Amino acid sequence: MAAVERTLSIIKPDATAKPGVTGEILHRFEKAGLRIIAMKKIQLTEQQARGFYAVHRERPFYGDLVKFMTSGPVVVSVLEGPNAVAAHRDLLGPTNSEEAPAGSIRGDFGTDIERNAAHGSDGNQTARVEIAYFFNASEILGPVEALV
Ligand code: RTP
Ligand code: MG
Repeated sequence: MAAVERTLSIIKPDATAKPGVTGEILHRFEKAGLRIIAMKKIQLTEQQARGFYAVHRERPFYGDLVKFMTSGPVVVSVLEGPNAVAAHRDLLGPTNSEEAPAGSIRGDFGTDIERNAAHGSDGNQTARVEIAYFFNASEILGPVEALV
């Protein structure tokens, strides 16, 4: 059986600016069996965006990326499900929206290598760090059984 994992999703400012696209992306997550166990729509500060993408701080695109990520609201969520990290990244498609196929989130809603509609954690350890970056334990739902 596939392991149940958690991953961090961010619907980026280019996508939240497009009418109906936030809901469509969330619908794709749910249709793929990913359960939304935490979610918020926020405007990142420059400090938050710099910290989140600190791994890229030496890269030439870092400044532009921080500017883009703070250019409008983002929808941050925690997704849970079988193989959630890979399942979520499969839905996103490749980083560059110009190379992402139709039917993938980045292919359908992004523009280029930077404005690519959504972020997904790239591994379980990254997911743990990224989830904790945005959510307290009290903001994340427990198992469904615990709620009924
Ligand atoms: P993400 O972290 O956002 O899920 O994207 P990723 O793993 O597919 O790609 P990564 O290499 O981690 O890059 C992070 C984000 O930086 C922007 N980027 N711009 N101008 C450029 O050459 C360039 N390369 C990357 C993208 O927004 C990418 O998602
Ligand atoms: Mg990445």
